[in-house]
Amino acid sequence: MLVNGIATDLLSAFDRGLHYGDGLFETLAVIDGIPCLWERHMRRLCLGCDRLGIHRPDTRLLRHEAERETGEMPRGVLKIILTRGSGGRGYRPPNPQQACRVLHAFSWPDYPADWAHRGVQLRVCDSRLGLNPTLAGIKHLGRLEQVLARSEWDEPAIAEGLMLDTEGRVVEGTMTNLFLRKGDRLYTPELGACGTAGVVRELVMDLAEDAGLTLSVTHLFLRDVFKADAAFLTNSVIGFWPVKRLEDRDLEVPAVPPAFSESLLAKVYSE
Ligand SMILES: Cc1ncc(COP(=O)(O)O)c(C=O)c1O
Repeated sequence: MLVNGIATDLLSAFDRGLHYGDGLFETLAVIDGIPCLWERHMRRLCLGCDRLGIHRPDTRLLRHEAERETGEMPRGVLKIILTRGSGGRGYRPPNPQQACRVLHAFSWPDYPADWAHRGVQLRVCDSRLGLNPTLAGIKHLGRLEQVLARSEWDEPAIAEGLMLDTEGRVVEGTMTNLFLRKGDRLYTPELGACGTAGVVRELVMDLAEDAGLTLSVTHLFLRDVFKADAAFLTNSVIGFWPVKRLEDRDLEVPAVPPAFSESLLAKVYSE
């Protein structure tokens, strides 16, 4: 683990990330020592900094530290945390600020191998996402909603939980973005009020049209999910999981033409 470039796992107990969730993070796949989708992750991190008024990091320094931390790792996960640092009076941010960066490499999670091909089971969570357009889309450190949602189930067969907002709109999974397919149309929830705008979601949006899939970013409700032909989940580590079952409803697998998911995955695990 690197904290501000120093190999240590010690961080000031005054750090605002700990006190207020005052910061951002990124979780990246690492293949053969290369942090995947680097530019997209850095764009979202910088967007988050602008929203929160945290100084943008030196992304070349971050890249250098990322490579130091991951070494020659054949396959792993890199988490980058950027907080506003320590100080300030209560909630009031310090001036000047001294942002704090933490980089930590993890081993690849041991999800069952067939989830990526045969699909996963998805449940609907009771915990709801609150609405806050200022925080919507960015990957801020305040993740209590996801922590509560993920503590709702223990069944190992259930891979992910679907989260709704307080108005009953479907937003995303606890750690993934959601896409639905009906015929050759793809739908993904609009994230103007809450949710995380995933970098793989962005990639799907970039690739869909060329694959003959018409994409709509729109408000979706549970009835839309239950009426879909197919659904899939995305994030930077899993890449793409088709959903084979939502509660007691079976969905089509493969969720999209295999050529589309294969070209998506090839891009997810590249620079
Ligand atoms: C709540 C949530 N939504 C969506 C995503 C997917 O984001 P990305 O594609 O950037 O990994 C994540 C990733 O961890 C997440 O935690």
